[in-house]
Amino acid sequence: MKTLYIGITELATATGPELKKGPEQRNLKVIKDAALLVEGETLLWVGERKDAPAHDKTVDFRNKAVVPGLIDPHSHLIWSGSRLNDFEDRIKGVSYEEILSRGGGIHQTVRYTQASTAFEMVSLAVPRMNALVRSGATTIEVKTGYGLNYDTEMRMLEAIRDLQDFTPARIVPTLLIHLPPKDRDRKDFIREVTEVWIPEVAQEGLASAVDVFVEKEAFTVEEAREILQAARSHGLHTKLHADQFHALGGVELACELGSLSVDHLEASADQQIQALAASETVATVLPGVTLHLGLPAAPARKIIDAGGAVAIGTDHNPGSSPMFSASLALALGVRLNGLTPAEALIAMTANAAHALGLSDTGRLEAGMKADFLVLDSHDWREIAYRFGNAVGKVYISGKEA
Ligand code: NIG
Ligand code: FE
Repeated sequence: MKTLYIGITELATATGPELKKGPEQRNLKVIKDAALLVEGETLLWVGERKDAPAHDKTVDFRNKAVVPGLIDPHSHLIWSGSRLNDFEDRIKGVSYEEILSRGGGIHQTVRYTQASTAFEMVSLAVPRMNALVRSGATTIEVKTGYGLNYDTEMRMLEAIRDLQDFTPARIVPTLLIHLPPKDRDRKDFIREVTEVWIPEVAQEGLASAVDVFVEKEAFTVEEAREILQAARSHGLHTKLHADQFHALGGVELACELGSLSVDHLEASADQQIQALAASETVATVLPGVTLHLGLPAAPARKIIDAGGAVAIGTDHNPGSSPMFSASLALALGVRLNGLTPAEALIAMTANAAHALGLSDTGRLEAGMKADFLVLDSHDWREIAYRFGNAVGKVYISGKEA
């Protein structure tokens, strides 16, 4: 059954499979009076309505704009407990790093998460995930990282796998080596991660990438290198959380290793911007963190101007970014990180697909998954403009979600 979708005032999408770097990130194709032909899960054809090929059925969106489904390339949807106490402490002036160094913050979420069953983790995560889907996310990366021990990390991976049963959106799992546990020898912990966790995760196909947090309160560049080299040698992609508070060399490491992405970058400066521009590593910025923690905005504008590629993520998590909307993340990327609406849309579609190593979503072209959004407007720019939800209908793999 071939369905033709019409009544599309304008359809905005990136084109071509390559990463959109520098000026390429501005190259959004906008087709007026467009149509989409879908069969099963796949887009068969995209173009002007007047050129539409033969079809079995027509669906009329009645003068609405269409964009690709958003891809959230960075989330921590699985977490237990609450961080409302941190929130209040920070408002009173205690810093995020100070809370972390005294054993709160991420460590507090770890204590709650370690005490949770996989069923509890999934029950807590489903409504968060549904909120992201309603706001336009059709693919969502989900990280572990609140386990810090083998059993809990494996339970988090199990919970991430189970999440897939509750949504048509595509869930992409990442093993996050978040912090060295306070009660363990660091070397011994890293040995267990590289010799037990990573081989098992690779063997069982439990995650597609390994991520490491490089920061004063987390891992050093050398520790991250050891972990990520183990990931690579087991055929897994690599990613980093880097330059959130201090530029310690995590961005340079990501570029050197050919990581899919390096995320945060609030403290990145010229040296890191140049390294990103010269690499194929996606710079994933997280405007929710800037807003919630009052950090400087990651220099996405400068990264694109220097020739780099930018993606935007929600970084949904309880401590640094309680962000329940993918389209709000996109809209904040324009306000806080200086992207144009076209760059921000490409950041959260085509470039976010690259940040996850995916090649069949993120663009509306023949052969791609039929993942698209029908906006609540005739103008595609509304998705970057509103602080509310401009998403009317969400189609994932050819079906309305
Ligand atoms: O992406 N920076 C480290 N990790 C998460 C925050 C986790 C938390 O505060 O619970 C982040 O910001
Ligand atoms: Fe994060």
